[in-house]
Amino acid sequence: MTSNVLVVDFGAQYAQLIARRVREAHVYSEIVQSSISADEVRAMAPAAIILSGGPKSVYEVPAPSLDPAIYELGIPVLGICYGAQLMARQLGGEVARTGAGEYGRTVLTRSGSSQLLGEWPTTTDCWMSHGDAIARAPEGFVVSASSPEAPVAAMEDAQRHLYAVQFHPEVAHTERGQELLATFLHHVAQIAPTWTNTSIIEDQVAAIRRQVGSEKVLCALSGGVDSAVAAALVTKAVGHQLTCVFVDTGLMRKNEGEQIEETFTRQFGVDLIHVKAQDRFFEALAGVTDPEAKRKIIGELFIREFESVARELGQGGDGPRFLVQGTLYPDVIESGSGHAANIKSHHNVGGLPEDLSFDLVEPLRSLFKDEVRHVGEELGLPAEIVWRQPFPGPGLGVRIVGEVTRERAEILRNADHVVVDEIKKAGLYRELWQSFAVLPAVRTVGVMGDGRTYAYPIIIRAVTSDDAMTADWARLPYDVIEKIANRLIREVDGVNRVALDVTSKPPGTIEWE
Ligand code: XMP
Repeated sequence: MTSNVLVVDFGAQYAQLIARRVREAHVYSEIVQSSISADEVRAMAPAAIILSGGPKSVYEVPAPSLDPAIYELGIPVLGICYGAQLMARQLGGEVARTGAGEYGRTVLTRSGSSQLLGEWPTTTDCWMSHGDAIARAPEGFVVSASSPEAPVAAMEDAQRHLYAVQFHPEVAHTERGQELLATFLHHVAQIAPTWTNTSIIEDQVAAIRRQVGSEKVLCALSGGVDSAVAAALVTKAVGHQLTCVFVDTGLMRKNEGEQIEETFTRQFGVDLIHVKAQDRFFEALAGVTDPEAKRKIIGELFIREFESVARELGQGGDGPRFLVQGTLYPDVIESGSGHAANIKSHHNVGGLPEDLSFDLVEPLRSLFKDEVRHVGEELGLPAEIVWRQPFPGPGLGVRIVGEVTRERAEILRNADHVVVDEIKKAGLYRELWQSFAVLPAVRTVGVMGDGRTYAYPIIIRAVTSDDAMTADWARLPYDVIEKIANRLIREVDGVNRVALDVTSKPPGTIEWE
């Protein structure tokens, strides 16, 4: 197995970012809770440990701490921000509540010799976010950098393999941040950079083969990135044992079904069952306007459709015993227990009846989203699938305010296609978290040619975000908005007006329902 770095989480979102940056340096990383004991660490035998930042002060009660015996294991440790202060305090240094913190871009000044900072220039820009500061390094440590409010901005005890920085090397605003992490990993801890897309694929293919043996496997494709990459990995491992199911709900994006067929049937030669369930979905949704009721209907019907395919294939004996799930590492971490929640969305079919119980194959369980995309590319999935923006399980259903009908879904699908097409042409698609069209339940009067029209407006929704928990409305260039608006009215029947959603999240949500 690949060498492993443990990122100890002190309770902020920094730990995930650090873990991703470590992997960008081609070293495998895992996040662990700060309650981990030295014995547990020893059993995991990591090649290095990184202590993350956190929102607390080391003086708060309670404030997260670390088993001090971990410093004695001889494993290289890098403390970052809170992690640095904790290390200083636990090893006999002094952390002062100066009251004068540093937030944002700060100039770092080098001093003393350092394995970690090597030949860094006298001054560099770094990103700080701290109230307290290390006032005195513990005995045995050399101070190698300072900033206006942090007399000990970097310190190290090379003999004991202990390193600490007050600034955040994981954020892009720290000029040499990634270089620092790479130095710590590759030179200080001497970990070989072997975590690559190729090694991920090889490891996962071997693991899937071990897990499923000669049994059959079932996978629900949603059109999204995760299920596609998971299916592609299983295809590479045991393609002839795999059956994929794609349920077309009538609420998919334009050409989504064709794209899936093209890729999985023609390119990969996988058995694909394409369930054309549009009629049944529109029938079930007729007359329903309540957002939660719509979601529930779509979710339950999806499971019924999937279930009927699974029953037809039969279970055990000749039928599939395993079910592929596109669970990602953040899902695993967030569930806290180290075991991912069963249902990511209804597309991942968690709600199957008990007599239809599968063993799960989760080949993406240790991966972050960006790694999933790169693995997908390497497996030969088309860029259009791999770089797709997130799409909700209930599909266009949560973007059609009011009743979902076949006609209204068609209007929205065509409008969505125009929005995405122009955003792609403007080179903005990958920068935006999501960009799409919304169809409200009102019609407005317009004039086209000689006649009056009475048709729907389309709302353009485009947001930037890191994780969908918060989002900002995207400042799209006027000329892009103009092109989208012109095309929507010219090309999409049933649309005569265009509006732009300028609501951030909070207070708004990204989707409309
Ligand atoms: P909201 O609208 O709550 O959405 O700001 C946050 C993110 O979640 C996506 N979303 C869903 N994804 N099933 C999903 O798989 C759902 O039912 C669902 N509802 C919202 C949404 O697209 C956004 O990225």
